[in-house]
Amino acid sequence: MKTTNSMLLLQPLQIGTMTLQNRFVLPAMVTRLSGEDGYINKDIMDRYLRYAKGESGLIVVEAMAVHSAKSGPLLRLSNDSFVAGHRELASRVHDASPSKIVPQIIHFLKVARSGWRQLVSDLSLDDVKSIVHDYGAAAARAREAGYDGVELHMAHAYTLSSFLSTYNMRHDDYGGSLENRLRLPCEVLAEVRRQVGKNFPVGIRFLGEECIKDGFTVVDSKKIALRFAKMGADYISLSAGGKFEDAVKKVNAPLYPYTGYSGERCMPGRNYPDLCNLYMPAEIKRYLVMHGLHTPIVAAGKISTTAQAEEILESQSADLVGLARPLLIDPDLPKKIKEGKDETVIRCSYVNICKNLDENFKTVRCFYWPKGMIQAPESDDETPPQWNASGAQLSVEYKHGKVSLTWNAAEDNEGIYIYDIYRSIEGQPFERHHASKSNHFYDTEVVGGDALAYYVVARDFAGNCSEKSEEAAIKIPEFEYSF
Ligand SMILES: Cc1cc2nc3c(=O)[nH]c(=O)nc-3n(C[C@H](O)[C@H](O)[C@H](O)COP(=O)(O)O)c2cc1C
Repeated sequence: MKTTNSMLLLQPLQIGTMTLQNRFVLPAMVTRLSGEDGYINKDIMDRYLRYAKGESGLIVVEAMAVHSAKSGPLLRLSNDSFVAGHRELASRVHDASPSKIVPQIIHFLKVARSGWRQLVSDLSLDDVKSIVHDYGAAAARAREAGYDGVELHMAHAYTLSSFLSTYNMRHDDYGGSLENRLRLPCEVLAEVRRQVGKNFPVGIRFLGEECIKDGFTVVDSKKIALRFAKMGADYISLSAGGKFEDAVKKVNAPLYPYTGYSGERCMPGRNYPDLCNLYMPAEIKRYLVMHGLHTPIVAAGKISTTAQAEEILESQSADLVGLARPLLIDPDLPKKIKEGKDETVIRCSYVNICKNLDENFKTVRCFYWPKGMIQAPESDDETPPQWNASGAQLSVEYKHGKVSLTWNAAEDNEGIYIYDIYRSIEGQPFERHHASKSNHFYDTEVVGGDALAYYVVARDFAGNCSEKSEEAAIKIPEFEYSF
């Protein structure tokens, strides 16, 4: 690992008029902390202040509606009455840290409990015009509120993404060919620029790949990125999937676009490899550079370790690293890395309870946060947890196809936050494997023949780490078969 001074992750980046202090981006993440009224409230304020204290270079505030269509709990910038709350949020974030803050603005179409959903082909030309107008007006409000820029949501299952999609079935100038699919997003970008002027950064989030059958892939998305870059988008943030086309219908609930395979690719869980979406920004970055364009690119999707994040920048696969779930569990991650305390970062285990909460319109929180808390724990304590006099006494046992791990609870002056479980396979170096809230864990990710060794560490709220427990090894019996 490099010294902190030489880390690319800690280098500033100029995006139009905003200087990011480092390359960490909190991509938009719906919190469900707002009411259906869409106003900024104290809980929302606390959530983003927490990120600001952790010193992310760029904080993208969760998707907020540009129009007044009905929805569950969702922020809004759809009329002037919303500006005051956003002004307070932006100003408090600026007072708390050098983090820059931009809102993500979104237009969505109607959905019904029956499963019916409005399609882009249902929109009249007047409807299309009002989408352009609403984005422009909301972007102007973002500027008036004192945000550092604005991000246009053109990803996932929402209106502008559905225009870009190969599933756009319009027969007029807004559908069919790629040029026509690009028309409305480009009109929106042009109108937003007209409203906010040149000196206000405008970023765009869209999909590197739809991740659905016959959906678009990087073959199209690199051309889409090129168009936005040529039109002067100040940054491009790439996501993946999250579509209605493969969403799973639940009884008496509107379709939720993250329930199918494309939803998994958007927020990849434990079953996906780290960096599984990185080929998208890497290809798009390469294509833009080939065309002489250096628009900053944000990569996201299971970027799990500091070394991976640094390597993304080093290999020029992207200019910024988007960490959504990793910053939810530990908003202090950028600050800890800046202070050379990488070992105190509390890492995401990608169990996707946060995704599930979002799906069910419940307050989005991290499963590992202490019970009842709706914000990440905060602590500047420096005393690490200790094992008691008899040590951790880690024991492992193979039963019913899984390894059961048990150890003694650790002690701490503040309280134990989580236990990190480290695992080695076949004598390879130990890697952080998972985490547990209690002093017991079942490892289900094992197969016959595995030679495994484990140790655990306890962490407190600041991420201070106990000594390693002793190691415990186990050989999983080979699967018996005969022909
Ligand atoms: C609970 C939750 C809410 C999200 N809300 C948004 C959103 O409002 N807008 C958006 O563009 N992406 C949203 N995302 C996607 C994330 O920004 C990010 O792209 C994704 O989680 C993958 O990054 P990660 O592996 O770092 O979590 C959300 C993700 C989660 C888990």
